[in-house]
Amino acid sequence: MANIAMLGSGFIGRFYAESIHGQRSRDRVVAVYARSEKNAKKFAADYGCSVWSTDMEEIIAHPDVQIVCIALPNNIHEAAVMACVKHKKAVITTKPLGRNAAEALRMLRAVEESGVFAGYLEDLCYTPKFLKSLISVKEGAIGRILWAKSRETHPGPHSNWFWDKEQAGGGCILDLGCHCIEISRNFIGKDIKPIEVMCWDDTQVKHIEAEDHAIGLVKYENGAIGQFETSWTFRGGMDLRDEVMGTEGTIWINSFLRTGFEMFTTGKGGDYIAEKAESNTGWLFPVGDEVNDLGYNHMFTDMFNAFEQGKQPAETFYDGYVVNAIIDAAYRSAETKQWEKVDLPVWRGQENLSKESHLREYDADHYLLTEEMTHDGRHVVVLKEKATGKFVEKQLN
Ligand SMILES: NC(=O)c1ccc[n+]([C@@H]2O[C@H](COP(=O)([O-])OP(=O)(O)OC[C@H]3O[C@@H](n4cnc5c(N)ncnc54)[C@H](O)[C@@H]3O)[C@@H](O)[C@H]2O)c1
Repeated sequence: MANIAMLGSGFIGRFYAESIHGQRSRDRVVAVYARSEKNAKKFAADYGCSVWSTDMEEIIAHPDVQIVCIALPNNIHEAAVMACVKHKKAVITTKPLGRNAAEALRMLRAVEESGVFAGYLEDLCYTPKFLKSLISVKEGAIGRILWAKSRETHPGPHSNWFWDKEQAGGGCILDLGCHCIEISRNFIGKDIKPIEVMCWDDTQVKHIEAEDHAIGLVKYENGAIGQFETSWTFRGGMDLRDEVMGTEGTIWINSFLRTGFEMFTTGKGGDYIAEKAESNTGWLFPVGDEVNDLGYNHMFTDMFNAFEQGKQPAETFYDGYVVNAIIDAAYRSAETKQWEKVDLPVWRGQENLSKESHLREYDADHYLLTEEMTHDGRHVVVLKEKATGKFVEKQLN
């Protein structure tokens, strides 16, 4: 059982509290910090917190609090983490870890030097579909991963601070790309070094300084490619999709829109359909169990189990820092229109990998290119002769 303090009483703080208190969980949010007394009191009443305060440090230092959960705007993550380190409190932080890799690295170093437990709340790497896919990938079901694409697009965030580049640290690349990048990284292999990024971004619709639409490619040292597609200008709800392509198979995940639950209504009932749904009439795409389908339940289970067992969770501050470093390179690339190197002053994975062999051996003399049953019933392979380089066709039946 864990006693948690929630820093922030907004959108994600409430989702987190719903998840932590969900089903028959023994874990409790016992304390809350919010800027205004009204919001702190309301959150405390809604979730049965015994302590509330408008003083962040008072909540972090409170003796009943074992784990501090940071659900504050991006520009306050670092100060909140440092306060947890000062009071030697375990800390779990929402995404993105920092506004940039420099902030993230300072947070990583601070928690590691002080020895406090720290976890990175990357919920989309804990959705049931993602977890199942990752097991299949790790078991080799789709072979060597060549391309891992992840897309998060929606019509734009719900609070003012997201739109202010200084507070948020960026636009949709930082806000949504952090999820996509960590999803691809997991599929490609967290120990495989991301080396370069090419990114296009633009501000196509919103009156903001930051980007509201971006597409990027992340090159990994073993030749695999990650791709992120992010937007704050997409219409029609929240689109969360992943595609993974391997030498032995393919995975497609649709986590939010069009997941097999469709409903028509004239609009007579309740207003809430799903996060960023945009509409409550006509044909709609509700989500069965949003807190679970977005990964929050499995995420907190992993975090609290790791905390109790003195282990690392699946998503750590180190992961958050690597993601921030990739995003920094994406912003540089969007400016220079060149491939930009990922700057990783701390790297703990494999080094100097070569591009893995793309050639599939058929027999001693040939490489295999394709194998197919044709519509006229022939079982055909196309081979490349090793000695001559010629392409030959062979019928097997
Ligand atoms: N899926 C996810 O993991 C996910 C989803 C949404 C948001 N987030 C992250 O959660 C964090 C908070 O986002 P949100 O959507 O809950 O925002 P929000 O605006 O709904 O809530 C933010 C909370 O922080 C408080 N706050 C705002 N400015 C503050 C300040 N200057 N000092 C102290 N407190 C302040 C607000 O009063 C509010 O309680 C962000 O880092 C965001 O990226 C993560």
